Amino acid sequence: MPMLNRRKLLGATTAAGSMLLSNAKAYAKLTGDVELRGQIGRLERLPTRDLESMEDFSTSLRDFVQTDLSRAAARRANAIFKDKGISSIKGISLVDTIKLLENDPIIMSRTHAWIDGQLLMWSHLQDAFHNDADRYLTEMAAADKSGPGSLELNPDMYIPPYTAHEIHNQPGGYVGDAFAGHMYHYGTNNLYIHRNEQDEQHISTVSFVPVPDDGKIKRILDLGCSVGQTATALKERFPGAEVWGIDVGAPMVRYAHMRAADIGIDVNFAQRLAEENGFPDNHFDIITANILFHEVSPDATTKIIRESHRALRPGGVFFPNEPVFQVPKPPDTIWSRYFTWWNTNWNTEVWYVYYSDFDYANAFQNAGFVVRKDSPSPYPRRTHMVAVKKT
Ligand SMILES: C[S@@+](CC[C@H](N)C(=O)[O-])C[C@H]1O[C@@H](n2cnc3c(N)ncnc32)[C@H](O)[C@@H]1O
Repeated sequence: MPMLNRRKLLGATTAAGSMLLSNAKAYAKLTGDVELRGQIGRLERLPTRDLESMEDFSTSLRDFVQTDLSRAAARRANAIFKDKGISSIKGISLVDTIKLLENDPIIMSRTHAWIDGQLLMWSHLQDAFHNDADRYLTEMAAADKSGPGSLELNPDMYIPPYTAHEIHNQPGGYVGDAFAGHMYHYGTNNLYIHRNEQDEQHISTVSFVPVPDDGKIKRILDLGCSVGQTATALKERFPGAEVWGIDVGAPMVRYAHMRAADIGIDVNFAQRLAEENGFPDNHFDIITANILFHEVSPDATTKIIRESHRALRPGGVFFPNEPVFQVPKPPDTIWSRYFTWWNTNWNTEVWYVYYSDFDYANAFQNAGFVVRKDSPSPYPRRTHMVAVKKT
């Protein structure tokens, strides 16, 4: 039997959706669908040409900033250090590094092109979704109860204040805007320079997730799942497993579920905390955390690691992925230490400075894990740190 297209089912929507239905109904009547401009494979096209061209412009800017301009800024910083006779991180404090660099035109061009381009992109995306809020809310409400996969929202859940920051300047952050998932998906597509429209980065990362030694994989949990790209990639790699994605942000899991249902991938999404996941002891064979820890406080990091140990079965594998888990970790340089400060303060990655210094191997061992440092890594010429629950 052909699959039903949820986007054509607006008439059979939830109570919340039906309140907001009028605009979408009028549109659906005209077109038979609510997609204004179709899909680019897995990615719904942005609703207007204006927005699409703005997005293309900001992606090109971002590409330039992340490549040529960043290289020029690093070269310029190193020339300044050399000029002052400073050759290593021991030769200058962070405070003095900031003072040396903060008025340099090349370094500050990079800062402003990065941050201002990002602010421009967020504000356009936020306007686009809010200006057509009825349509997008109706669409999400219709998706909440559709399948495949399920959605669990917990409106009374305690939201820890550390999760409420506007990380990388996203307006409202992950928990404070009904369209946080929409904005995040398009915003990070910009950050990935359009090289992740079909989840290519997530599919590649997931290919490095190690299988438990006994080869048994019945259940998988993805922590801080955001818009669900790691979770859907896990289901595609392990189609026989039950896959869950959890996130503190209701808008994130709503969007994740809508997207997964749209592309026909059977994943369960829930608004839950990684440090209190609510699943039984010894339940999962694999737990993943893709680019989660740099956005979590040190106290919560320790709790998440302990809670993951509880929910994994003996022999189960915890796979965290982001730069600090590469082995060996790249050495700190004056420029990388400045970047850590910069990312925390300019890019509002408010936990980045703590994440960079955190001793993950120690935290895994204290929670009862065996730490393996020989796993294949998504980072070239490196191995990767993973944690295995003792059998
Ligand atoms: C950078 S995004 C993660 C990206 C995603 N894992 C991926 O593969 O694309 C961080 C996510 O973690 C979520 N998050 C932060 N702290 C959390 C917590 N304590 N419990 C659950 N989710 C959390 C945020 O809401 C956000 O969606």
